Amino acid sequence: MENKTGQTVLITGASSGIGYELARCFARDHYQIIMVAHYANKLREAAERLQEEFQHVNIHHIAADLSKDNAPEKVFTEVQQQGWQLDVLVNNAGFGEYGPFSESDLKKELAMIHLNVIALVHLTKLFLPDMLSRKTGKILQVGSVASFMPAPLQSVYGATKAFILSFSEALQEELKDSGVTLTVLCPPATDTNFFKVAGAENSKIAQGNLASAEEVAAGGYAALQKGEARAVPTFKAKAEVAASNILPDSVMATAMHKQSEEVKPKKSTAKKASTAKAPEEPTSTTSAEPVTSTGTRKRSSTKAAPTELGSSEGVTETPVKTSSRKKKA
Ligand SMILES: NC(=O)c1ccc[n+]([C@@H]2O[C@H](COP(=O)([O-])OP(=O)(O)OC[C@H]3O[C@@H](n4cnc5c(N)ncnc54)[C@H](OP(=O)(O)O)[C@@H]3O)[C@@H](O)[C@H]2O)c1
Repeated sequence: MENKTGQTVLITGASSGIGYELARCFARDHYQIIMVAHYANKLREAAERLQEEFQHVNIHHIAADLSKDNAPEKVFTEVQQQGWQLDVLVNNAGFGEYGPFSESDLKKELAMIHLNVIALVHLTKLFLPDMLSRKTGKILQVGSVASFMPAPLQSVYGATKAFILSFSEALQEELKDSGVTLTVLCPPATDTNFFKVAGAENSKIAQGNLASAEEVAAGGYAALQKGEARAVPTFKAKAEVAASNILPDSVMATAMHKQSEEVKPKKSTAKKASTAKAPEEPTSTTSAEPVTSTGTRKRSSTKAAPTELGSSEGVTETPVKTSSRKKKA
């Protein structure tokens, strides 16, 4: 296997959607890739798929539930032990929860805050010092168009994304002239598992025109490579962000509320059970020790064989299936 650039990237949430497409962008440029996600089997399959497409690239995977306190530390330790030096960190893993705040799932929202906010801060804190000491490195934080405006019916999710933008813009100033750049990718509504996981499949926004994960990732990747502060892919997203700079937040909130309403009422409350993720995973919630698995796909083998580093607790088959509804951007 060759690593032409000699560069290594770690991508969280790389097993599907935007993260997977970002991994494809890095693979095209011959980066060594460390894919991180929660569900081990889904992650391994994604790593195998990527390896199949980019046979010349070194691909590793670490399964970890990043909504758990010590997971970032475990991922960091694993990276250190393997002797990998990160040139790029991509904090992409994230999920949402749909519905009026008075009815939405608190457990899921707390896990979401943990993943979208705490794990992102924690991983940045762990990997930044080495980049600074080498005076080189790139960080991509995945925010959202929702970073710029209130998000009724996804109020907690929107707040996590606003945090990411605020945190990132402050860091960008601190990192000036350090050799390390930080880019915030702010995707619009994109055709991924996101809406299914959030329980928002019937919302107008999910039923509308969705960007493709590929175009969103390409926009983020280009901006990251140029060291740009922000990537807002697609014309529609740029228009929404521009509107948020002009219109009062209350007006944006009303517009977003309308956009986020359900197209048709849900038939039952089964939504919560079918869409909840990590927090409802019994082994994940009871175990303070998220399982971390690593594996390097050998070109000759057809299945990656991850090395189990801990107990098997927390490693599960993914309950999230790709939505059968396919939308064009
Ligand atoms: N799609 C959109 O409309 C949209 C718009 C704006 C921003 N974004 C942001 O884009 C990012 C990627 O989302 P996506 O749209 O590509 O959705 P996705 O297809 O559902 O991908 C989410 C990724 O995050 C991982 N993940 C979820 N929970 C995790 C946990 N507890 N620990 C570790 N990894 C976890 C998932 O892996 P597992 O399946 O193993 O959990 C998956 O790889 C998120 O930050 C999201 O907020 C999405």
